Amino acid sequence: MMSKIIIVLFHILLYSELKPSKAQTWIKSGYWFSGIGFPISDINSALFTHLICAFTDVNSSSYELSVSSSDEQYFSTFTNTVRQKNALVTTLLCIGGSNANYATLSSMVSSASYRKSFIDSSIKIARLYGFQGLDFSWVSANTNSDMTNMGLLFQDWRAAVNSEEKNSSQKDLILTASVHYSPDFDSVSFPVESIRSNLDWVHVNSYDYYDSLRSNFTRAHAALYDPLSPLNTDHGIGAWIGRGLSASKLVLALPFFGYAWTLKNPNDNGIGAPATGPAAIAIKDDGVMRYNRIKSYAQSNGAAIMYDATYVVNYCTVGSTWIGFDDVKAVRMKVSYARKKKLLGYVVWQVPFDDNWELSLAAQGEENNGRPKWRLLVIILTITTTVALLLCLLVYYLRMRKLKSKAKKLEPKVKNIAAAGDLNSNIPNLQVFSLADIEAATNKFSFENKLGEGGYGPVYKKDEHEANTDRIVGTYGYIPPEYARNGVYSTKSDVYSFGVLLLQIISGKRNACCHGLDENLNLLEYAYELWKEGKGMEFMNPTLDDTTSSCKLIRCLQIALLCVQENAIDRPSMLEVSSMLKNETIVVTNPKRPAFSTKRDEGDEKDSKLLALQLEIFSVDDSTITEVVAR
Ligand SMILES: *[C@@H]1O[C@H](CO)[C@@H](O)[C@H](O)[C@H]1NC(C)=O
Ligand SMILES: *[C@@H]1O[C@H](CO)[C@@H](O)[C@H](O)[C@H]1NC(C)=O
Ligand SMILES: *[C@@H]1O[C@H](CO)[C@@H](O)[C@H](O)[C@H]1NC(C)=O
Repeated sequence: MMSKIIIVLFHILLYSELKPSKAQTWIKSGYWFSGIGFPISDINSALFTHLICAFTDVNSSSYELSVSSSDEQYFSTFTNTVRQKNALVTTLLCIGGSNANYATLSSMVSSASYRKSFIDSSIKIARLYGFQGLDFSWVSANTNSDMTNMGLLFQDWRAAVNSEEKNSSQKDLILTASVHYSPDFDSVSFPVESIRSNLDWVHVNSYDYYDSLRSNFTRAHAALYDPLSPLNTDHGIGAWIGRGLSASKLVLALPFFGYAWTLKNPNDNGIGAPATGPAAIAIKDDGVMRYNRIKSYAQSNGAAIMYDATYVVNYCTVGSTWIGFDDVKAVRMKVSYARKKKLLGYVVWQVPFDDNWELSLAAQGEENNGRPKWRLLVIILTITTTVALLLCLLVYYLRMRKLKSKAKKLEPKVKNIAAAGDLNSNIPNLQVFSLADIEAATNKFSFENKLGEGGYGPVYKKDEHEANTDRIVGTYGYIPPEYARNGVYSTKSDVYSFGVLLLQIISGKRNACCHGLDENLNLLEYAYELWKEGKGMEFMNPTLDDTTSSCKLIRCLQIALLCVQENAIDRPSMLEVSSMLKNETIVVTNPKRPAFSTKRDEGDEKDSKLLALQLEIFSVDDSTITEVVAR
């Protein structure tokens, strides 16, 4: 019961931790671009919460989404493939990209019916391939009408996604967009208001501020800060927030690539050094260099990787080649910045450019210094406190139970308990005593009435062989007949009690009635019957470790039965019991029928008298017992 409660509590806590509520989400996202030729199955999706598959086109005449036949094989398997390493990863399908046809997109957003064609097909394809969201990337939009119409598209899209969610049994699709580093761009502005009300978040393309084709000075192309120019990430993020978009809708892009310049003078190789264009090594990519290539190039040339804290960028120089990029250090600083600004997370452009997952791990590692550790601590503390509380309750409960059972053992002036079975219908013969009863019986718990520790009273040295008490004190079922009948007890009374206890231990059963086929035998008699029929093993508690060593257990049973014999003289002494238990070579005699039996063994002339006694009321001074059948 207790452990079940603990497990349930643990699950509730764990579930609330794992289930991302909107406020708690921290997005670790990344793009995978089909054009790179990096196998989807090689993506370490365990490092991401979201993965974005890029890019689908828009048909120039129907305005429907179109996936090229060469891409279809990838896009249709993307979700299932990345889920093999991370079953919880959320996938999005990206539309557009830097190679998207400007005229097609501009025309598509301009008309409600074109937008509808586009939207309906986008939802259909997302569902068809198992994507959970759609990402719109129109980075060449550069007129006021483009921007306004883009806002209308987002509005229509959201309405369609909401209605589709009601139609389908699935969760509504996530809607996002890739946007410039700043809402202001070429004298026009992104539709911030529509983004705010219709999109789940935006991926802020905080890179490409400079490149080696257009700039004749080495630069930090994705500078987090720049004291001399607004072309920096901090400025762009500030502008988005300043225009009314909540920080919690901004996902910061991390470039997993750099730009390679040719230095004018190899000795002048800091940030801002004169350059003459892209380095020869990256000339065919217009100066762009992937992180994994930069690392292997720097390594094979023994180039030291520098870090500049002003711009937050790494760079290295090999001869007249200068490369500015984000290494582990810059990535950590940017993720930490995103955390501090309470952004929604980060998005990597692009996943296959990483080198042995070094940057993805660095981005994740930063996270481990943040909130989750703290949350984990809260969970651990909560669970510990709960468990401690439950343990306290358990201890309290057990103590109360013990006190109650002690109270029951305190036998008051024995009164007529003939109807005891009615008091508790489940447990026959269990007596319930009120505090007043106990108070009266013990003469207000007086010292004289204290009989020592234990139900039977003092232990005598239940040279004196027997004694007579004027009160019956003991627990029913453990009291030998001579004590119940005449108040006579001796060391053989202890032996009797020991026998009862031993029978309970080996059977794992209560010393109550209702054993045997007809449920009419008390435990002692039941044990005896089974032993007599050679079925002693049926009596044993099956969970006992050594039910396999049956002769040991049968011997135990036989010794116990010797202890509970009717006649005190027949019972062995404790010394004999001990040596019989310890020494297996000592012969154990056959026990007679136990005390309080309802049946008789043939030839036992005392039995009829005994049976009569059980049903009678015994008078012991001022005490009266009507029922001495063991419970
Ligand atoms: C564009 O859509 C039209 C009309 O549905 C179709 O005939 C054409 O093949 C599509 N073009 C491409 C490239 O899918
Ligand atoms: C939802 O169902 C309605 C009624 O069947 C239909 O008109 C509408 O086009 C559906 N919407 C989507 C997005 O499937
Ligand atoms: C950069 O330098 C090269 C060589 O000196 C020159 O041809 C080119 O015009 C310069 N570009 C810019 C943008 O200044």
